[in-house]
Amino acid sequence: MIKIENVSKTYLGKQEKALADINLTINKGEVFGLVGPNGAGKSTLIKLIVGMLNLDEGDIKVNGHSIKSETVTAKMSIGFVSDNHSIYDKLSGMEFLLFVANIYEVSSEVAKAEIERLVELFELQNAINDSISSYSHGMRQKICIIASLLHSPKVWVLDEPLTGLDPKGTYNLKQIIKRESEKGTTVVFSSHLLEMVEKLCDRIAIIDKGKVVAMGKIDDIKANSNENLESIFLSITSNKDNQNENQELTESNKKVNANE
Ligand SMILES: Nc1ncnc2c1ncn2[C@@H]1O[C@H](COP(=O)(O)OP(=O)(O)OP(=O)(O)O)[C@@H](O)[C@H]1O
Ligand SMILES: [Mg+2]
Repeated sequence: MIKIENVSKTYLGKQEKALADINLTINKGEVFGLVGPNGAGKSTLIKLIVGMLNLDEGDIKVNGHSIKSETVTAKMSIGFVSDNHSIYDKLSGMEFLLFVANIYEVSSEVAKAEIERLVELFELQNAINDSISSYSHGMRQKICIIASLLHSPKVWVLDEPLTGLDPKGTYNLKQIIKRESEKGTTVVFSSHLLEMVEKLCDRIAIIDKGKVVAMGKIDDIKANSNENLESIFLSITSNKDNQNENQELTESNKKVNANE
């Protein structure tokens, strides 16, 4: 479970808040999607959840542990896949995975079994002993996904995990997300791929300019309209051309948010 309470963030040297007074509760076993235009604040929120950035205001509790005051305990229960995959180039894939398992205090037997299973699933067997510097973008992403799961995190946070994966990799990731959620893992991910979000997520938050502008089950967000998620997204994020004609829709979606 993740409890985001009154969270705000302003980057050094910036006037505008990257996030303003965010409140969200993401339940155990839920698959929760973060969507929003470029620069909306999704990655900022994700980095705050996983403790990569410091909070200006508010707090985030991960399974009841404050990321501010119980940082290590909170972080130990999080698996994180960042959007940039900047990992140790000089190591082989296997060396990197064993290194990460060691940091999270996973025994080498458990780690090796899990690595073998996931490496086979993502078809990385032939590359696993090669240097990461020789990996493609998608291969790095797969290694990061595997690394994030080795300690069986209770909370799994992924920043644009579907971007850059081939169709089989995408299929595998979707299956793992479903399986993790069935096991009770809380899954949060950001994505621009609205069709995937629609298929995978129990609930979503649409973020725009640092604020949650709609939140809830996709069916509830869509309830007041015949539009698909893409059209709703375009109408409630700051698209000036759409703003007036969709004012009514915006208001109804705000209600969805308020009723949650
Ligand atoms: N390191 C940084 N320093 C200063 N400003 C930043 C930094 N990182 C992000 N920002 C600003 O914070 C705001 C939110 O950015 P963020 O990366 O969270 O957006 P996003 O929703 O993840 O966008 P995208 O869909 O493009 O990944 C933007 O205005 C961005 O310019
Ligand atoms: Mg981002």
